[in-house]
This record gives sequence, C-alpha cells and structure tokens, in this order.
Amino acid sequence: MTTSPEFHDRMLSLGLARVSEAAALASAKLVGRGDEKAADQAAVDAMRTQLNMLDIAGRVVIGEGERDEAPMLYIGEEVGNGNGPEVDIALDPLEGTTLTAKDFPNALTVIAMAPRGTMLHAPDVYMDKLAIGPGYAQGTVTMDMSPSERVRALAKAKGCAPSDISVCVLERPRHEDMIADLRSTGAAIRLIMDGDVAGVIHCAETDITGIDMYMGSGGAPEGVLAAAALKCMGGQIYGKLLFRNDDEIARARRAGIEDLDKVYTRDEMVTGDVIFAATGVTDGSIVKGIRTEPGWVTTDTLLMRSKTGSVRRMTYRTPI
Ligand code: FBP
Repeated sequence: MTTSPEFHDRMLSLGLARVSEAAALASAKLVGRGDEKAADQAAVDAMRTQLNMLDIAGRVVIGEGERDEAPMLYIGEEVGNGNGPEVDIALDPLEGTTLTAKDFPNALTVIAMAPRGTMLHAPDVYMDKLAIGPGYAQGTVTMDMSPSERVRALAKAKGCAPSDISVCVLERPRHEDMIADLRSTGAAIRLIMDGDVAGVIHCAETDITGIDMYMGSGGAPEGVLAAAALKCMGGQIYGKLLFRNDDEIARARRAGIEDLDKVYTRDEMVTGDVIFAATGVTDGSIVKGIRTEPGWVTTDTLLMRSKTGSVRRMTYRTPI
C-alpha cells in the first residue's frame, strides 16, 4: 500500500503564492479593458500552468465548474506534477471578473490547498453567508437571527452601539429587505459590487478595513474559499446552501451533499489545516492591485497558514 507524503504546508505555501501571483500577472493586462472572459481566461491559463509545476498530487474540488462546463481547472481535474502529497485545491483564478474588466476595487486571484478530503465540495450554487472576525465567542451571531438582531448582538459583544457596527453586503436586488432591516439599527453598510471572498476577509481585519460583519448570499464556492481564509486569520463564518431548482439540487447530490438544509460552520467547510493565497489584481483594502512602472511589474500577495495563524504580505517585483 502506498501512502501519501506529508502535507508540508510551510514549503508548499510559498509555491502557492507563486500560483496566485502568476494568475494576477496574467490578468493585469486586461484590467479596465471591458472583457471579463478574456481576463478570466488569462488568469485560468496562468494559474493552471503554475499549479502543474508544484510537487503535489492535487485535485481541484472548487474550480471553474463541472467537467462538461470548464475546459480547465474543472472540478475533479488532477493538478501538480504528481510528486508529492495528495491535496485538494479550491481556487478562483479571478474573483471579480467584472471588477477587473471595469477596474473597480478588490479583484483578487484566490487559491487554497489542504490535505485530501478536508474541504467541502461545494457545488456551484448560491450560499447564504454570515461572517465576523476573530475575538468573539462562537455563536455571537447566528443564521437564525434576523439581520438587525445580528447587528445588536455583535454591538453588545463588541461593547459599542449598533450604529458603530459596519456590515459589508453585496449590492443585489435580492438583498433589499436585508439592507432595510440592517438600516433600521443605524449600522453602516458597505455595499460591494462583487467579490464576497474579499468581503468576508474584511471582517478579519476590522482595524484596517472598518468592516465588522459580512452577510448575504453569493457563490457557494466562494464561501468555502472565504472559510479557508478565516481559518487562517481567525473569525467565524456560517454558510447554508441555497437551491433554486432541481438541477442545483442534483449538483449538490453529485458533490456528495446529503443534508440540503445544513448550516456549515467554518470548520465544517474546512476540516483540517489549510494554506491560502490571494493576490491583488485591482487595488483593495486587503492587498494592493498590480502596479507597473517602466520595465517592471509589482504584485502584493496575502499568504496564510492555518496551522500557525501566520499571515504574510509579500510584494513581488519582476521584469515585464
Ligand atoms: P466572478 O468572480 O465570477 O466575477 O464572481 C464574483 C461574485 O461577486 C462573487 O464574489 C460572488 O460570490 C458572486 O459573484 C455573486 O453572484 P451574483 O453575481 O450572481 O450575485
């Protein structure tokens, strides 16, 4: 019987940063060019090429879609050179394709890696999400509470007035009632156009970002990526899959999900050690976007390990 080599997260994390940098560098040329597809494709190609250089026997569990929908980085695709530990990969080569095409803030390339079988295989459906940063007792806010109850509960735990709480929400018509309820508390709301992985990460660095809580529905794959980030940085996230039709339920069943009503905690979405890298494409509150100067291009990457809680911010300059 062969056993998989150990998951050396310390060394592998540096390789993961290269993967995320490569995707950002490739999509940089397409920032502000109005072509979402081309920007995404460039990031996907570069991420895959770089990923296949790593000493891992990797399998994509969160990717660009199911095999018949995505030619590359599809769910189930084997990645890496095969000489290393069996790992699962969750990725979003360009989180915020529209943000990139329009040169709006907070577009990122995102990737997480963990030992085989330790990340939720979230189907490509919506997920209702609720997140807060570190330092609060488990269950300070819950999915059962209304949006205004969550604000009041968090304010009480933080020792401030509800009006001192800031909540990040995706600006979507489906969130209008939630926003109205939040407004009734006097809380501030930062509406974002896209990019809820960044939205959730904002909660882990309230001092820098000014955001205390994230809530609302977005992609389930992005929910697992956000859980991986919070597992490294600290903080809580809850996620419940939302299904609009039988096809989406079938997707969940194919992904091995049995309990369709389950509320997943952070540690149920990512059950073991995980490493996470995100590189800025456009400027954001978490990392700066790509900068170019004559002859050079510079990226900023957030690189984290849950085992130690280490958070690295890496600036990389390379010739164009
Ligand atoms: P893309 O990377 O495909 O542009 O997705 C961006 C995003 O805003 C995610 O961050 C979010 O989870 C999802 O889209 C929300 O979906 P919708 O746009 O359908 O509300």
